[in-house]
Amino acid sequence: MLKILVTGATGNVGQEVLRLLLSHDCDVCAAVRNPNSAKHLLDSNIKSVPFDFTNPDTFYHAFLQVNKIFLVRPPALANIRLQIAPALDAAKLAGVEHIVFLSILGAERNRFLPHSKIEHYIKQLGIKATFLRCSFFMQNLNTTHREDIKTRGELLLPAGNGKTSFIDIRDIAAVAVRTLIEDGHQSRAYALTGKKALTYYEVADIFTSVLGKPIRYNPSLVKFVQQMHSSGLSINFILVMVAIYTTARLGLAGNITSDTEQLLNRLPLTMRQYVEDYRHFWL
Ligand SMILES: NC(=O)c1ccc[n+]([C@@H]2O[C@H](COP(=O)([O-])OP(=O)(O)OC[C@H]3O[C@@H](n4cnc5c(N)ncnc54)[C@H](OP(=O)(O)O)[C@@H]3O)[C@@H](O)[C@H]2O)c1
Repeated sequence: MLKILVTGATGNVGQEVLRLLLSHDCDVCAAVRNPNSAKHLLDSNIKSVPFDFTNPDTFYHAFLQVNKIFLVRPPALANIRLQIAPALDAAKLAGVEHIVFLSILGAERNRFLPHSKIEHYIKQLGIKATFLRCSFFMQNLNTTHREDIKTRGELLLPAGNGKTSFIDIRDIAAVAVRTLIEDGHQSRAYALTGKKALTYYEVADIFTSVLGKPIRYNPSLVKFVQQMHSSGLSINFILVMVAIYTTARLGLAGNITSDTEQLLNRLPLTMRQYVEDYRHFWL
């Protein structure tokens, strides 16, 4: 039976991938740093194996008899050569046949992105791969921006009037599972976006209408940095976020593709659907 190892298993996309894989006829295993704390997050039917990208002692057991990997780069690991490549070397040695990698939109154009370096490294190793180059996750709004929206009724981020082609991670996970289970997706890259690009003014209007309370978009860069700093985030993380939102402000985050729709045989989930389904996060 096909054995699939899911990394980033306790994270946004990994949890959803695991949930969907449970209804398929395959042997699924969650690769987790801390099996005890992961227990609270994962379905009790999901088995797990200790795995840490930065601890080579965990590689042998994690990759044993694994055919396919869903690969997530933890956001804190930016040194690909030192922190990700050793695990990929071990996967190759263990005979892993296919990697589905959660990458980022534009990775093929910007070789300085860690995702671009990972794509390049996987190709060099000669492991067959599928690159899911995703747009900005809708779910950033119920994680990173949750408190601002919930307690201050404010969407505070410096994206100006630029549009973003938001995608729901439930769609990303559904595509990931399809590319893991079906043949024909090896050596392919997909650019995954939602169906419609929105400005954050439009996003705030959707929140206002669904939550039934006013949510205002505030594009102030200074307030954003102050707010992120006072919530304890590292300066590196804040700079990465400023860079991401600047890309949107410059109008470079709004491209729409048809890959998600074609791979799912349905329209991608909308922002309104997402806010309705996740409304408990902000009330
Ligand atoms: N947010 C976006 O809009 C967006 C868009 C495109 C692409 N991406 C990419 O998506 C990826 C993040 O995906 P996500 O949001 O699903 O992840 P996430 O929720 O940030 O979770 C990160 C996962 O990595 C695990 N992890 C952390 N350090 C680890 C280590 N040393 N060894 C093994 N596992 C480790 C965490 O496990 P623990 O429970 O042990 O901490 C957790 O499961 C990033 O590469 C990001 O650049 C994000």
